[in-house]
Amino acid sequence: MKNVKETSVITAVKEQYEKFPFPHVSRLEIEDSEHDLRASFNHEFNLQGSRRLEPGCILWVPGCGTRWAVMLALQFKDAKIIASDLSKASLSAQAALAENLGISNIEFRNEDILTVPYEEKFYFISCVGVLHHLPSPQQGFDVICRALKPTGLAEIMVYDHINRHYSIRMQNILNIFDPDRELDAQPRFELAAQVLRALNQHARTPPELKRVLDYLDSVSGFSQELADFISHPQEHYFDVPSLLSTLDKSDLRVHSWKMPHFFDPTVMLDDISLKARVNDMAEAEKAHLGHLLSSGFLELYIERKCHHEAISTPDIRKYRVRSIHNNKIIQLDDNGKVSRVEEKSKTTIKGGLLLFDGGERRPAVSSYGYAPDCITMRPRRLLGFSDLDLDTELSHVDDILDLAKTSITIDEIVTTLVKRYDESVSEEQLVKLCSYLCRTPYRLLAIVE
Ligand SMILES: C[S@@+](CC[C@H](N)C(=O)[O-])C[C@H]1O[C@@H](n2cnc3c(N)ncnc32)[C@H](O)[C@@H]1O
Repeated sequence: MKNVKETSVITAVKEQYEKFPFPHVSRLEIEDSEHDLRASFNHEFNLQGSRRLEPGCILWVPGCGTRWAVMLALQFKDAKIIASDLSKASLSAQAALAENLGISNIEFRNEDILTVPYEEKFYFISCVGVLHHLPSPQQGFDVICRALKPTGLAEIMVYDHINRHYSIRMQNILNIFDPDRELDAQPRFELAAQVLRALNQHARTPPELKRVLDYLDSVSGFSQELADFISHPQEHYFDVPSLLSTLDKSDLRVHSWKMPHFFDPTVMLDDISLKARVNDMAEAEKAHLGHLLSSGFLELYIERKCHHEAISTPDIRKYRVRSIHNNKIIQLDDNGKVSRVEEKSKTTIKGGLLLFDGGERRPAVSSYGYAPDCITMRPRRLLGFSDLDLDTELSHVDDILDLAKTSITIDEIVTTLVKRYDESVSEEQLVKLCSYLCRTPYRLLAIVE
């Protein structure tokens, strides 16, 4: 039973997304459209036995907004996807997008995730950018725990104080102008824009906040992006300790961070004595420090505490793989129809380094239709090949990708290259490299079944 305050928060959030469905979708970026991600996903998370994603498995996308279930459907082609959202406007925009892209494996449900009846139903849940908008995020985590199969995995992203600092300021500014929270979504957004427009040189508010207002007139759907940022009625912010304690109370725990190097201080500190101190820290403390140093998003995979990790490691040498060099970018027109399809390389060579476009490091690599130069867009972080704990060379990556132009087993790749390099590289190193290349964010090898 929800109390009055909870009901009014849910009403305000629903109204926000009826008025400003998020995000406005003008572009989708997917990894190799031919590749069904299931096998790669099972490898990446070492999902074995009953934990494996199999054809027909059921996935849940709570708070799916305007495109998130479609992103998943493009990658998990034979899964059954249930997509829930409070906002009818978001659901109908996404249903139209699915239809335009010929996707038919999503069932859209207009429901409040706090009242759904799902119990131990889903193998995978993708709940990105949602739980922090609930009256009590803890209740949302309880729902995720209940809805997951005991062996299931959930992907989440929640806000933190560092990345939302502009937004926190705007919330506080609006609360002073509208202390009784009387304004609905549209007037609240207009007030926020009015305040930003009025700022003069004496204000110390970041200039980007003012600059992005220009896009309101020139970029289609931009108010949907901006309202999420400057005038949201309900946001909650975590840091690593509060997130871990919330997970714990819901009988959940971290499986892995999506961008592990953002939560590993040793990657960011070039000082041997500090690195040694970090190595003595508990995992939670390391992750907290890493987050403070990197300002990475709190994006992670979680699992139920009752879950026990598969002990055996699969023999990846028998995997059949094929190289994926490009992401596919689908441009949509204002009616949501496909207007252009382009390919974009996943890697760049710079200063002798192979850099990987980390994208948003999620199963379905994606990006929004944000305006260029906008504060709500973070430049993509490119990961260096040197970040990998490997004693191999760049040319080895090229050779592997070349051999895998047509599908081939990792065993065949390793055997061929050990001979070619006259045993100067160990089989173990090459297997390790292939394993990295099968995973996000480096994924340049698709596992084919
Ligand atoms: C910031 S958007 C994120 C959308 C999507 N996950 C993405 O990343 O593109 C948050 C979404 O969560 C939905 N939402 C918020 N609270 C909800 C609730 N209690 N039940 C269902 N949906 C909710 C909103 O309507 C909105 O579409």
